[in-house]
Amino acid sequence: MRFVCPSFSDLCQPNVEIKKFPDGDSYVRVPSAADAAGKDVVLFNRLYPEQDSAIFQTLLVVRALREHNPKSITLVAPYLPYSRQDKLFKEGELKSAEILCGLLKREGVGLLVTFDCHFLKKEGEFEYGGLKIKNLSLNRRLVEKAREIAGEELEIMSPDEGANYLVAEYGGSSMKKERGEYAEGGEAYREIKEVKMEKDVSGKAVLIIDDMISTGGTMLRGIENVKKGGAKSVICAAAHGFFLKGSLEKLREAGEVFVSDSIPTEVSEVSIKPLLEEMFPE
Ligand code: R5P
Repeated sequence: MRFVCPSFSDLCQPNVEIKKFPDGDSYVRVPSAADAAGKDVVLFNRLYPEQDSAIFQTLLVVRALREHNPKSITLVAPYLPYSRQDKLFKEGELKSAEILCGLLKREGVGLLVTFDCHFLKKEGEFEYGGLKIKNLSLNRRLVEKAREIAGEELEIMSPDEGANYLVAEYGGSSMKKERGEYAEGGEAYREIKEVKMEKDVSGKAVLIIDDMISTGGTMLRGIENVKKGGAKSVICAAAHGFFLKGSLEKLREAGEVFVSDSIPTEVSEVSIKPLLEEMFPE
């Protein structure tokens, strides 16, 4: 039994209504919620963009389903917002990732299926914040696509040590990234102080791969490094692409760039569909 939100309309026909009231509150209706009774149900909803609304809407849809006592509820959310907030740096901060997972669990989500979750760093089944999570990875498909584009052997690198798990199986290496403190003002952003690269890439075709491209700052510094190091070409790829602050244009000027459609973008060249079809055959 499937319930599909409009954010998944590129992959399946939506059967859940999600709208906004004029004041911005969310309106949610699940016309066939009663069909969930006694069934294993799967809810497909992308939780980005407008993640705070999307999360609340998800909780409402889950409640609408739970009212009819399904056997189980699995949520498929290709990119998990707040997944980068899993560590505490300063007094009074919160592990928002853990809180989100706890909320989903408490509302009735039995399993979350997601892709390349930032705090899990490998494929498999986990429990986090009390929530069972199945983490799928797009990494192999991203590397295959990059090899297809390059048409030659690639030196595979990640732009910071946190993404080393993505390159390890290819014998790749990682750059070392250091961030500064949060900047003054209303935006929670820690400037990148430096991204160091030790690998000799001179004359090589390089793939830089990360779990996500957000403001593009990390990737752009990585590209700068490999260019300074004499690489002959550079491709950059990630599972999730937000491309904030005009970074898509800057990245395109620097080399090839592509991501998956976990978040649909104009450079989403790898689809999450085959992995979802494998997991949820018709
Ligand atoms: C960080 O640990 C992640 O793996 C990415 O490197 C980071 O989130 C990318 O952010 P940005 O594109 O803003 O540099």
